[in-house]
Amino acid sequence: MPTNSTFYGADWNPEQWPEPVWAQDLALMREARVTAATVGVFSWSRLEPSPGAYDFGWLDRVLDGLHSHGIGAVLATPTASPPPWFTRAHPDALATRRDGVRLVHGSRDTYCVNAPAYRAASLRIATALAVRYARHPALRLWHVHNEYGTWCFCDHCARAFRTWLRERHGTIDALNDAWTADFWSQCHGDWSEILPPRATQYLGNPAHELDYRRFLSDSMLAAYTEQRDAIKAVVPDAQVTTNFVLGGWVPVDHARWSREVDLVAIDHYPSTLDGVPAQSAFAADAARGWSAAAGHGGRWLLMEHAPGHVAEQGIQRRKPPGMLARIALAHVARGSAGAMYFQWRASRGGAEQWHTALVAHPGPATRLFAEAVALGNRLAATEGRAPSDRSADEKVPFPTGEPAGAATACGEVAVWFDETCGWAVGASHLPAPVDYQGIVEDWHRALWRLGYQVDVVPPSAALDGYRVLVVPAAYLLTDESAHTLERYVREGGHLVVTYLSGIVDEHLRVRLGGYPGALRDLLGVHVDEFDPLPPGTAVTLDNGDRATAWTEHLTAPGAAVHVSYPDGRPAITRREHGTGTAHYVSCGLDETATARLLDGVCAAAGAAPVLPGLPDGVEAVRTADGVWLFNHTGESHDIAGRALQPGTAMELPAFSGHFTEIAATRPR
Ligand code: GLA
Repeated sequence: MPTNSTFYGADWNPEQWPEPVWAQDLALMREARVTAATVGVFSWSRLEPSPGAYDFGWLDRVLDGLHSHGIGAVLATPTASPPPWFTRAHPDALATRRDGVRLVHGSRDTYCVNAPAYRAASLRIATALAVRYARHPALRLWHVHNEYGTWCFCDHCARAFRTWLRERHGTIDALNDAWTADFWSQCHGDWSEILPPRATQYLGNPAHELDYRRFLSDSMLAAYTEQRDAIKAVVPDAQVTTNFVLGGWVPVDHARWSREVDLVAIDHYPSTLDGVPAQSAFAADAARGWSAAAGHGGRWLLMEHAPGHVAEQGIQRRKPPGMLARIALAHVARGSAGAMYFQWRASRGGAEQWHTALVAHPGPATRLFAEAVALGNRLAATEGRAPSDRSADEKVPFPTGEPAGAATACGEVAVWFDETCGWAVGASHLPAPVDYQGIVEDWHRALWRLGYQVDVVPPSAALDGYRVLVVPAAYLLTDESAHTLERYVREGGHLVVTYLSGIVDEHLRVRLGGYPGALRDLLGVHVDEFDPLPPGTAVTLDNGDRATAWTEHLTAPGAAVHVSYPDGRPAITRREHGTGTAHYVSCGLDETATARLLDGVCAAAGAAPVLPGLPDGVEAVRTADGVWLFNHTGESHDIAGRALQPGTAMELPAFSGHFTEIAATRPR
């Protein structure tokens, strides 16, 4: 499954250690068959100890050391953490909170992305690195910055926001209209009156808030592309990326950003130990979806992952034996160009001294390091390399340019995931608290449990070829997206839309005349009222399923009623359009009910699990070469004539089952 371009390694911070430790690290990396190390992420104060004075000597030795051990470098620009001299010289470049408090130096991300001094200093250090290392033989990939995603509300941002708004809205009247500014007397007479959405007396304007998130995303993207272009100006064929951090609080539109990177790279830190397999599948399917929609063929990279623990509500839950390799391979099966971790060697001090690492504080004689060595051997063997170590002169290919599906087969079922929809929900004061990404993950998890191969797709994705498309809580739906969904059904697709979809336009203005506004005709329903449920309560539907969290009062003038509320009103409906169908789910469903509904829709659409009838906790992922099995349970299982041991992963090469037959008949 992996190709000989597999990335396997971690963030390595040699600047935190005396040089004799570097030699030990390099030897250990070789032992673990590491192929790449991310260096320089937080090294600005070492690389440029005073303005314009560089010290590259130590990084020369680090890169030379990697190369002489046959290990590639993922070289970061260090701009996520400006040194103290910078903030002292440019206090205006520190980030300012919503309440006007300017943050001080002392952590990381202590900058405003729109501060001219910060941008100039970032460009300078990125260019200096490019000039020095562009042709270094260890270099595999440039890693600009680290996890873009900071917020700022300062005066630099205010100025840049006004420019951005002018470009977006054209005239102040158009902006007032888009923001429904007559509400609470917010009509602006001049651009200069507009501020970032700073702390105010009571509720802010949701359209203002949403535009600010879009603006921050574009500001950070401009900062990224500036550095990328500076690197490519020195070496046009440089491969450049940045590591995406996932989460609803991040004002970064990853689908859009994916077009600007050479390899989509994500950091993923699941929030619960039990949730690791499902959350990893979701993040991987989303990364693959961004990559495919941006024209990268579905190839992506897991850039950071925690080796030994999962931070669950402040408690570091230890990953059990076997999990390191199993989850790494599960990512690779889903299209990742490898598995990279944070971090290589655990820090002695500093804010993250208790963060897990492949080489923990006790040293390499640990269970975890032994597993890291085993994983390295397994990845090397799987990619078909000879068991000898990579030679220093071997040129490591970059994993792009492969045709779609080379890494992993795409699914028959897709789940729509629009991060800006999450921003819209987050900016709005809805009739009940709504966790957009949580809802999307719930629907994805139900399909994952049932064993379907799922793609998580952004609105820009091509939808032809998917038998089933699930659109959960797409609160904000542009006209273009509404037409895309309509076309999908009219061309024979099977659509499942849930409550709180199609409600507002791109400016968060409600689509009038009955919910779900943009999709009313397609679904053949008309919702008069929302009726959200208090936590812990449920309504039993006429098929025995339980509705939770949300219910609605609707009629179904153009659709057949599939399931009803206790009083006979429609709850779940279905409208046929030629061979296509459009289902509407007006309520929240618990996991069992969600699974039952989806299984029925998928079966009717001709989609099937990769391997039907797998036990709960056993996962099958179809790749271009066969099927990978993952046993996330504590028992062994017999699958397809093979004994799958507890907690292990196994490849069935050239396995052909239902999926191959289905794939041959695509599109629908
Ligand atoms: C992020 C960062 C790393 C580190 C890890 C800790 O992903 O990029 O620098 O802070 O989190 O989990």
